[in-house]
Amino acid sequence: MTETTAILVGASSMLSKEIAKRLSASGMKLVLLAQDTASLDDVLTQLPETTQVFPLNIADAEQTITQLQQVWQQVGGAQLVLVNTGLNSYHPDLPWQLEQEIIDVNVKGFAAVCNTFFRLFREQGYGQLAAINSIAGLRGGPSVAFHAAKAFAINYLEGLSMHAQRLKLPIDITDIQLGLLDKAAMQHSQLWLSPVEEVARQTVNALLRRKRRVIVTKRWVTVAWLTRWLPEYIYNTRHWKQKKKRSK
Ligand SMILES: NC(=O)c1ccc[n+]([C@@H]2O[C@H](COP(=O)([O-])OP(=O)(O)OC[C@H]3O[C@@H](n4cnc5c(N)ncnc54)[C@H](OP(=O)(O)O)[C@@H]3O)[C@@H](O)[C@H]2O)c1
Repeated sequence: MTETTAILVGASSMLSKEIAKRLSASGMKLVLLAQDTASLDDVLTQLPETTQVFPLNIADAEQTITQLQQVWQQVGGAQLVLVNTGLNSYHPDLPWQLEQEIIDVNVKGFAAVCNTFFRLFREQGYGQLAAINSIAGLRGGPSVAFHAAKAFAINYLEGLSMHAQRLKLPIDITDIQLGLLDKAAMQHSQLWLSPVEEVARQTVNALLRRKRRVIVTKRWVTVAWLTRWLPEYIYNTRHWKQKKKRSK
């Protein structure tokens, strides 16, 4: 039954695990892809035995494409694919090695994954491709490659959506743009960060409603709006102030 299968790429993150539990509870059979499959052991104890697991490192685009095609054959297709991979780091010297790693994973790897699943959905005749993205892509920022990569992802997904419409294919593209999430949710470290459970809840709602684009959590809609429209001299100052505070 391909209609109820969901593939999660980057299944090892805390957010992916929360999403996996919710998708499973909604009746979907899961296929989890992660760099280190052992990192899924904890969540697998909370998921049905039908859950399948495969290793995947998306840093090598060519290899990623081959592996995804093999997985697709083995699981017999899927109705939903959620891509939740990403690298981020900040270094004031902007060492090329770091920038390159971010570009390899967040741009090349991301595009290879989305391109492959789009083509597989096209052959299958339907599907939903979703990605966890970031409002960081709305504007440049101090984590230079990260912000630029997220802008790439926003535009790549929009392009795929346009392409599906032009081909008159029932392929939905969902861009889930996150604000900041609180990975230490249990400690409620910062009030304005969204707990992972709430991020997962809003994400799964958007997925099941096949939304084209959504900002999660809702409290980040205003921040996203401001980020997009603030004049550069104010937007730049805001970032400088944040960095100064952090370095104290
Ligand atoms: N955290 C936030 O506040 C925040 C805010 C806005 C947007 N986002 C976006 O949300 C997504 C997830 O972020 P997160 O904070 O949850 O990060 P995370 O916990 O570090 O998760 C990133 C995921 O990407 C996977 N990944 C990294 N490199 C990979 C590679 N080469 N091949 C395959 N998988 C790889 C990681 O796998 P491993 O565990 O094996 O490394 C992990 O599952 C990212 O797209 C990020 O931009 C996060």
